[in-house]
Amino acid sequence: MKVPPSRRFAAFLGVDLPFSSCRAVRSSCSRWYHLSVVRTAIISDIHANLEALEVVLADIREQEVDRIICLGDVIGYGPDPCACIDLVQEHCQFSLLGNHDFACLLEPTNFNPIAAQGSYWTRAQFEPAGDDHDPAVTARRQSFLHLMKTYAFLDDDRDYLLVHASPKKPLSEYLFRDDVQKPSKLATAFQSMPGAHAFVGHTHVPGVFSGELDGAGRISTESLFDFEYGNELSGPFALDRQDGQMRFIVNPGSVGQPRDGDRRASYAVLDTTGETPTVEFLRLSYPAEVTAEKIRRIDQLADRLGDRLLVGE
Ligand SMILES: [Fe+2]
Repeated sequence: MKVPPSRRFAAFLGVDLPFSSCRAVRSSCSRWYHLSVVRTAIISDIHANLEALEVVLADIREQEVDRIICLGDVIGYGPDPCACIDLVQEHCQFSLLGNHDFACLLEPTNFNPIAAQGSYWTRAQFEPAGDDHDPAVTARRQSFLHLMKTYAFLDDDRDYLLVHASPKKPLSEYLFRDDVQKPSKLATAFQSMPGAHAFVGHTHVPGVFSGELDGAGRISTESLFDFEYGNELSGPFALDRQDGQMRFIVNPGSVGQPRDGDRRASYAVLDTTGETPTVEFLRLSYPAEVTAEKIRRIDQLADRLGDRLLVGE
């Protein structure tokens, strides 16, 4: 099924819309859940890495979660885009649109040559080809990609915003841990949230940004910002709003292409079953050598894309 470019552009151009005027994405399953009694596995940035995704999904099965959501970049860079789309479609309540998903659907924007070439190869994997081509499978995968949203709220609860990149620019802005030294950037990000929590991917680094309201009861450049790196947290991190004084932006890290010097796959579990919600970060070893070798065997994917998986950068 082909979606007109105008529709895809509309989704793209919607990234800067103020969330106060936007309609939440409602999952077909959301009526079965209430946010206060749910454990949610949050995965992001799979990047067509099947070996990492399979290990993460196996671990999630042990975590007694009620559902899985994906923050986007299911594809791009890696060697198994179709298999990863199939698994995400099978296991996740929904997936948001990442900049690499968008690049494969429409065009790579501000990509380096290696990433752009990978995007064009990835796009070709979703086109009908070969004698064993199944039109129904192709249509299902393309439909799933085309229906990815640029943002969502968990169960329509505006206190829990979900985007791929940042609350201000859901497809493109990186929120780096060093940005705690840039209060104007983080103030803008936190001001773009309609509630107290946002969940983002994109940087491939797990952790929690916190922002404390200033003396006037607002997020501003006078607010105190901090970042807790996921690997340095022991156990669940309490998203304690402290009587409405605190806000949080959580990044679960990357399943398929970690960039924090730790090659293990990363994801997070949001637990809202208690009075104070918590988020726990998990890291898992997976056979990155297998993925890297697959990449080396595909001419259109640069060897560098496999090498970086071995060192987590
Ligand atoms: Fe990504």
